[in-house]
Amino acid sequence: MKFGYFDDDRKEYVITTPRTPLPWINYLGSEAFFVLCSNTAGGYAFYRDARLRRITRYRYNNAPLDSDGFHIYIRDGDTVWNPGWQPTQTEPDSYRCRHGLGYTVIEGEKNGVLARQEMFVPRGDDCLLIRLTVRNGSGGEKRLSVFPYLEFCLWDAMDDASNFQRNWSIGEVEIDGSAIYHKTEYRERRDHYAVFWSDRTPEGFDTAREAFLGVYGSPARPEAVFGAGCTGSVAHGWQPVAAQQHELTLAPGGSESILFGLGYIENPREEKWAAPGVINKARAEAMMARYAVPGAFDAALERLKEDWAALLGTFRVSSGSEKLDRMVNIWNQYQCMVTFNMSRSASYFESGMGRGMGFRDSCQDLLGFVHMIPERARERILDIAATQFPDGSAYHQYQPLTKKGNLAVGSGFNDDPLWLIAGTDAYLRETGDWSILDESVPFDNDPLRADSLMEHLRRSFGFTRAHLGPHGLPLIGRADWNDCLNLNCFSEQPGESFQTTGPSEGPVAESVFIAGMFVKYGRVWAELCRRRGLAAEAEEALSAVEQVEAAVLDAGWDGAWFRRAFDAFGRVVGGKECDEGQIFIEPQGMCVMAGIGSRTGEAARALDSVRERLDTEYGIVLLTPAYTRYRPELGEISSYPPGYKENAGIFCHNNPWIVCAEASLGRGDRAFEVYRRTAPAWLEEISEIHRTEPYVYSQMIAGRDAPSFGEAKNSWLTGTAAWSFVSVSQAILGVQPCFDGLRIDPCVPAAVRSFRIRRRFRGALYLIEVENPDGVQHGVKELYLDGKALPSALIPVQEPGRTVRVRAVMG
Ligand code: BGC
Ligand code: NOJ
Repeated sequence: MKFGYFDDDRKEYVITTPRTPLPWINYLGSEAFFVLCSNTAGGYAFYRDARLRRITRYRYNNAPLDSDGFHIYIRDGDTVWNPGWQPTQTEPDSYRCRHGLGYTVIEGEKNGVLARQEMFVPRGDDCLLIRLTVRNGSGGEKRLSVFPYLEFCLWDAMDDASNFQRNWSIGEVEIDGSAIYHKTEYRERRDHYAVFWSDRTPEGFDTAREAFLGVYGSPARPEAVFGAGCTGSVAHGWQPVAAQQHELTLAPGGSESILFGLGYIENPREEKWAAPGVINKARAEAMMARYAVPGAFDAALERLKEDWAALLGTFRVSSGSEKLDRMVNIWNQYQCMVTFNMSRSASYFESGMGRGMGFRDSCQDLLGFVHMIPERARERILDIAATQFPDGSAYHQYQPLTKKGNLAVGSGFNDDPLWLIAGTDAYLRETGDWSILDESVPFDNDPLRADSLMEHLRRSFGFTRAHLGPHGLPLIGRADWNDCLNLNCFSEQPGESFQTTGPSEGPVAESVFIAGMFVKYGRVWAELCRRRGLAAEAEEALSAVEQVEAAVLDAGWDGAWFRRAFDAFGRVVGGKECDEGQIFIEPQGMCVMAGIGSRTGEAARALDSVRERLDTEYGIVLLTPAYTRYRPELGEISSYPPGYKENAGIFCHNNPWIVCAEASLGRGDRAFEVYRRTAPAWLEEISEIHRTEPYVYSQMIAGRDAPSFGEAKNSWLTGTAAWSFVSVSQAILGVQPCFDGLRIDPCVPAAVRSFRIRRRFRGALYLIEVENPDGVQHGVKELYLDGKALPSALIPVQEPGRTVRVRAVMG
């Protein structure tokens, strides 16, 4: 069942009922001011850091679900309603929500009044703009009262949700004309405030929640809206809010718009005050003035759309498949931008308080983002590298606001260092900007301990090489990519962190997955050395890689698939002798992508085992059989009920690894089949089962052992976005950025006869046509650049500004 439809021309998903299976959200803003906005106008805003600079409040576990946000109430006689249905849940006569790229438009209609609520964060400014347009389609005059309402968060979202004894005494606001300023803690150490404003003088306002909603009131039935109107309350402590009341009289056919804004302002310390106790509003007033100009709202929205069109112009496919095109050209790339910005911090499943930026997560997010804005990728790589320790290990997470490593989680996730090579590699291939390797980057954020990025990568590689276990495989530490495989933790106490309990440096537990990474990214490291004239170091690195590769084919091979690990007692994890968890997906994907066993047959055998044992109609499960009891020697993975999350859920992130792996063996039919199974556009039809947004990937779909098989959770913030884009753009469609040019090496279903791609690469535009006259799955027999045959599958780098035509004939 569908709850809307794709409008590809407008790059929108159009939701046609407010009762979606779960709130379906969008992200507004892509620089510093961010808003999560659901299809019923629920959500929240923050500046840079969803934990430390939360601007509005949101209650994740609320019932009814999703009732905090950016709601506007319309009172029309006895009827009170919202354009997006929530929170009053008054049934609208019609409803539509258009989630577009960086903007959301909600339209509702009730008793002849059409209300449109348009929302976006303009480029270059730290504010959310909301324009409400009401049109009177009834035959008679309409007198409407309009009440926008939002609830401020007292900045630190974690503290705000727990430290009530302090917080209920500190809330402060200032009211100035049509603006409400939230200035809690500005009197002391904060130099920032938030402002809510409208472009016309309201008839009333409230800033104390209990005045607007009532002490026992709820957003579904605010006392002010249902009763005598706003009271002019001034919040002192308790819960500061911004609510206004606007009275409109509309003649039949008449319409009016009101612009609302929610801004974030920082003042230099010496310019904090206009008068004692009165905040300096100059910057806020300038912000309001920018959008008070007629046409400013539309111009800013237009600019946002143009920016997105330009960004997406870097990679565009015309495949003849509507679903494939919309995933590749619009939604997958859009999600890559969001994961790049958010890492795993703020979504409707990530509270914004738990995790900051993940080291491995952000490195992987780069893979799907780097082609869009390479300069931002460059900056990110340097930020991430600065959280690396001098021995090559790394903080697992860092806070985006401070860019400092997160001490509470610390390091010890032994895959982390190698992902830095992966991210840098993607950047170098995309840009050819080798100067990044010479950038001086601190270790552990300490400017006194800085060295080149090249040196950081050397230590990444060196860390793994220096931490091998009894079988010559890398030690796993606290966990590898699979955060839940905690082989050194042995947690027995409820509430303990699975990851950070126990020693981080078990000397026995080894990871075949990290071994695969070491082979894959160790070869990259060796190539970087070679290109920098370090031939001896390159040779030495390659020989270390070969040793680990041999260890994988020896101790890491189980007979029909790659084993997963060795536990702290040296016992196999992910092998046929295990009673549960016999085969895991991760090492199959990573080892085959690394080329291990491709000549000797293990690679193909391992992928056949994946198909035989792990495949389901909704995607490939992470392992099988699921663990049915808790095993302290394996950790969090066995804590999940069977079929959920890492315990045999369909963990979407590693499905595209199988796509890449299959493509590396030339198996295009299978690669595409795996791709399609988890791709949102193909799941749209079963939204009542899948439940999360049909335009973005989710981290996890419940596996076949779960009672809710097929139900997704944790939409938006997942490495699935980046890896899916890599798998479809590079492995399937075969446009591969390389150090020396673009390689064209598609691996497609035999039935595909042709497709076209537009790719901007290092400033030149490549118009690529691929033909497949013989219906093969892999192989390019002829390649032409502007009509001239090329000797290999590589198109050399073209002059910036040039447009070239490429024709590839498969066969
Ligand atoms: C989840 C993992 C996640 C980890 C982060 C676990 O509870 O299952 O997916 O990576 O938490 O700490
Ligand atoms: C989600 C985490 O963000 C990611 O870092 C990890 O690799 C996966 N879960 C698997 O555990």
